[in-house]
Amino acid sequence: MGLYFGDNLPVMQKHIADASVALVYLDPPFNSKAQYNLLYETPGNERETAQQGVFRDTWNWEDEADTCYREVLAHGGQIALIMTALIKALGHSDTMAYLAMMAARLIEVHRILKADGSLYLHCDPTASHYLKIVLDAIFGPQRYRSEISWRRTSSHNDAKQGRKQYGNVRDIILFYTISDEWCWNQQYVPYDPDYIESEYRHADTDGQDYKETDVTAAKPGGDTSYIWRVKRREGRKERWQPDFDDEYLRPRTGWVYNGVPPYQGRFWAYSRANLRAFWEQGELIHRETGMPRIMQRLHKMPGVPLQNDWQDIKPAPKSEALGYPTQKPLALLRRIIETSSNPDDLILDPFCGCGTTVAAAQQLKRQWVGIDVSYYAVRLIERRLRRKFGNDIVVPIEGIPADYLSAEGLAENDKYGFQQWAVGELGCQLWNNGKKGRDGGIDGEMWFFNPPHNAGRLLVQVKGGKKVGIKELREFKDVLNRENAELGVFFSRAAPTPEMRTEAASLGDQHVGGKPVRKLQLISLATWYSGQRPQLPIPVPLTIPKDKSVRAAGQIRRADPKQPSFTFLVEGVQTKPRKNQVVNPSILPDEAISLSMEVV
Ligand SMILES: C[S@@+](CC[C@H](N)C(=O)[O-])C[C@H]1O[C@@H](n2cnc3c(N)ncnc32)[C@H](O)[C@@H]1O
Repeated sequence: MGLYFGDNLPVMQKHIADASVALVYLDPPFNSKAQYNLLYETPGNERETAQQGVFRDTWNWEDEADTCYREVLAHGGQIALIMTALIKALGHSDTMAYLAMMAARLIEVHRILKADGSLYLHCDPTASHYLKIVLDAIFGPQRYRSEISWRRTSSHNDAKQGRKQYGNVRDIILFYTISDEWCWNQQYVPYDPDYIESEYRHADTDGQDYKETDVTAAKPGGDTSYIWRVKRREGRKERWQPDFDDEYLRPRTGWVYNGVPPYQGRFWAYSRANLRAFWEQGELIHRETGMPRIMQRLHKMPGVPLQNDWQDIKPAPKSEALGYPTQKPLALLRRIIETSSNPDDLILDPFCGCGTTVAAAQQLKRQWVGIDVSYYAVRLIERRLRRKFGNDIVVPIEGIPADYLSAEGLAENDKYGFQQWAVGELGCQLWNNGKKGRDGGIDGEMWFFNPPHNAGRLLVQVKGGKKVGIKELREFKDVLNRENAELGVFFSRAAPTPEMRTEAASLGDQHVGGKPVRKLQLISLATWYSGQRPQLPIPVPLTIPKDKSVRAAGQIRRADPKQPSFTFLVEGVQTKPRKNQVVNPSILPDEAISLSMEVV
């Protein structure tokens, strides 16, 4: 149980045992080509916002997609055939890159699911049709159970702007199981009020609403063709009652008797003994003809068995909202977890974002593992759990080195892990969403507001080698020039040489928000652990019109119109750095984010 900071593919491969997980919920980025940003709202609800990039939802055919594709082919079987066919149709496109990376991960999910385990893959119509083909190939088409449609919003502005198409208001959740025997706890939802009004038209003597149901069936089965005998007193307005003792053979004076067969062409659905039991429990009533009917009392009915059209779960309410892009409501995850797992089962969310699955699993007394490649996300989950469940909750986090030695170990054993950690510590976005491959000399990036009107960009280069030299620094300097970036941070495992320091200093200062900041800052692992921090821009409040916030936030790629648009507001406190104060925005002070976490 715990959180992993890192790419979920190697984490699953290295850390999650075969057939160990009861339920996997995946909510991967949807290939929407959007960068998601958190907007911080200052007190007083002024429209002042600032933002921090969280994760980028883009996929391109690069080395990592290619590696995944090869891994999938090496896996063989149906999925290899399907991927070969898909690549012929789609080429080395973004969609194919997305599918190659998803296929490699879904193969792992299949490996780690228990014999009665289930998978829920949350996606949207952009790629759901392709993902279903991929899942059919990995799990087998016979293991497909449902396509759930979740209405995440009641209206969406897709349909505005003169676009001739319907508003896109639903997500798709594909439900597969690993075998033909799976964990299933039936869920029910309340009856529709119109249905109650039309069906539950009677009230019993206690005032309980009930409906009458037929006791005959189309097919015979056992003791099903008898005559049902009834009796009642003559001349009184009373209902029939069963004639269990066959009194009609020796009729009493003042009583009338009747006998009814099933309707023509039909059979009794219950044996005489079962109908008798219904009578004794007060659940049988007779029509004027003497035909018995079962009384179905509304308050005893569990509701309608849950169908695959989920319209009753709204987006995360304000009381849950953490401002994390694409945050899902707890109710959605609670429903999935309650249906497809039992207490103490292990639940895994490999794209866990701000930890909705983890929080729901903890509430429902399940074990859990959450993985996310965003350092910000992992830290946010840690805080979310503490706020909700108290400081005693143990939140083991793997992948984040706790001290200098473990950070060195990470650099030695996992170059990309080291990069991810360093970029995350600096509060920056991983370049190319942390995907391995050509990075053009950039490992991390941060957009920041450069008041009064501009957005600025800070780039990060991380060097995990035992030695570092002037050549690497000059290369990074060229990258800053090429990219027109305002600021750069060069983070190295080894201490920079004096020549490097001189070179960095020669670039002088950049003015951010009217204050001078070194354009190129050097930081080494040793200085980091001695507590020194580079001077980093913080999210500076900026007035942005409400509905244009993401766009105005500074030449950041715009979300695909097909993708839900977000306003990620986190109530917070406007912090003003003191002169020369060193701020690391990734570790926002607790009081800077007010998490109101009262969860139903
Ligand atoms: C759609 S969000 C998940 C939101 C989540 N369901 C929630 O309620 O907060 C997708 C998440 O996947 C993460 N992610 C993207 N690629 C990843 C990878 N290769 N390994 C682990 N996490 C990844 C992103 O950082 C992001 O937090």
